[in-house]
Amino acid sequence: MSGDGHVWWEDAVVYEVYPRSFADADGDGVGDLPGLRSRLGYLADLGVDAVWLTPFYPSPLADGGYDVSDYCAVDPLLGTTADFDYLVKDAAAHQIRVIVDLVPNHCSSAHPLFRAALAAAPGSPERARFIFRDGHGPGGELPPNNWISQFGGPAWTRVTEADGRPGQWYLHLYDPGQPDWDWRNPDIPALFEDVIRFWLDRGVAGLRVDVAHGLFKDPDLPDLVGAPVLHAPSPYRHRPELQPLYRTWRAILDSYPASGFPGSRTAVGEVWYDRPETLMPYLAPGGLPQVFNFQLILPGWQAAAFRDAIDSALALTSGSRAPWVIGNHDVPRPASRYRLDEGYSPETVARLIALGDQNAEAGARRARAAALLLLALPGSAYIYQGEELGLPEVTDIPDGARQDPRFRRTKGEYPGRDGCRVPIPWARTGKGLGFSGGSGPPGSGVSPGGGVSPRASTALTDRGACPAEPWLPQPPDWGRYSVESQLADEGSFLNLYRTALRLRRDHSALGTLRWLDADGLLCFAREPGFILAANFGAATARLPAHREILLASEPVTGGRLPPDAAAWLSALTLTPCRR
Ligand code: GLC
Repeated sequence: MSGDGHVWWEDAVVYEVYPRSFADADGDGVGDLPGLRSRLGYLADLGVDAVWLTPFYPSPLADGGYDVSDYCAVDPLLGTTADFDYLVKDAAAHQIRVIVDLVPNHCSSAHPLFRAALAAAPGSPERARFIFRDGHGPGGELPPNNWISQFGGPAWTRVTEADGRPGQWYLHLYDPGQPDWDWRNPDIPALFEDVIRFWLDRGVAGLRVDVAHGLFKDPDLPDLVGAPVLHAPSPYRHRPELQPLYRTWRAILDSYPASGFPGSRTAVGEVWYDRPETLMPYLAPGGLPQVFNFQLILPGWQAAAFRDAIDSALALTSGSRAPWVIGNHDVPRPASRYRLDEGYSPETVARLIALGDQNAEAGARRARAAALLLLALPGSAYIYQGEELGLPEVTDIPDGARQDPRFRRTKGEYPGRDGCRVPIPWARTGKGLGFSGGSGPPGSGVSPGGGVSPRASTALTDRGACPAEPWLPQPPDWGRYSVESQLADEGSFLNLYRTALRLRRDHSALGTLRWLDADGLLCFAREPGFILAANFGAATARLPAHREILLASEPVTGGRLPPDAAAWLSALTLTPCRR
């Protein structure tokens, strides 16, 4: 909390970085921590308060790094712990906080404790850290229950015992390379307390908690009966044992000083839920400071659906406890998703592939409008890297280049999430479009205050080397989305985001949301005198009475807002409230 009682994370704009795809300093085609460090100037200019880094830990990459083999280290492909420390230090010099991903539901099958479990006998303490069971059937050849992996296929894999015979089965709610921990074993909470302290001691401002609605399983491991309701409580989702655990984590977070930078520490849980009642326990005082609010990801491009999504979230939280998002590394990019009229579902990527190039312009316009809507809501918002560039979902990644386990395990039925993870285009031209090879034209790696820490990276040009191809192929026309192109274009996505974030920062003392009646527009006011208007219809619509247009996602003529557009208005002269 700062001196005036303000807690930074309650209204922060946080930028999600998928490190492998953000910026590659050493030219091997994979993004890394020095690459991110070299682009902190870009993030400071964008105006974000914090970055959340998806996993950068050692990992065999069965699931893009969410299969962690060492929770307290940096994958050598991405850098070193010293690089991480420099990153935190340089980010702080830019007033940017660092949030790291905590992956407590499962580890990697390469984690030393899982290897030890495989080497040990059934019933051993080593196996008791995971969920090993005998199979059903005369030879134990059937899985212990009927649970299904999130990536397709059974949630159980059978191991070969030391004597060479087929043996027990272990549970993995995701890929077989991601064995689930047994959270009822006291070793596991103790292990994760150490991990949490390890990163907090290194100066991180918070944790993003992966699969925070998972972790505990019903000890009887009962079969699922009937078709499971997506995100509803189940024998492996939303168990009551979670809340006491999160209270212990909250106590750890609160034991770090709230004064000074980075301020009070947060943790934001990834909690997908079916109904408000399912979310309520997570919002009880003393638990996780925040949980994600995925309500804006779900609706199709319809005013009523957006209004319902906003109302349902605000009824539970003021926005501060549940940050808003319109995308992340798991869902198709908004600029493509909004090309479809229907809401998000597991079929969305396949639908986009079938759609080809149709509706691309409408998708982009709607994504610009959605950005203004997102950033006008009360509370905190997360932006996923590339959203500020309006990057579309890449739908034509060749099968051989796809990496997502969901693609492999469903034999291509679900194309998976690679399309929103394609490396960022920084430059208009050149191999990798500036993704590889140092700090390039936009953004600077120089530490403010005269270089408190060593240079972010050895630029490729210094080494006379040629960068490798990016780990996922970029579409050939992506130079037009590059940071370089967009900085030169006043009306670009990037400049819209930069202006929106600046205005948001300057007018941070806005009050709660109040819906306004406005013909053909979705409109809300926030006192004193701020109005958001969004046009989901097919015709232009008259803006409500206002004094000034602060920002619009499309040109406004004659006081009428075009279709698929949004505007920020002031009803009076707003007094900037700078913190
Ligand atoms: C979360 C992550 C996702 C990952 C899964 C398993 O949903 O966001 O990327 O595949 O957890 O760790």
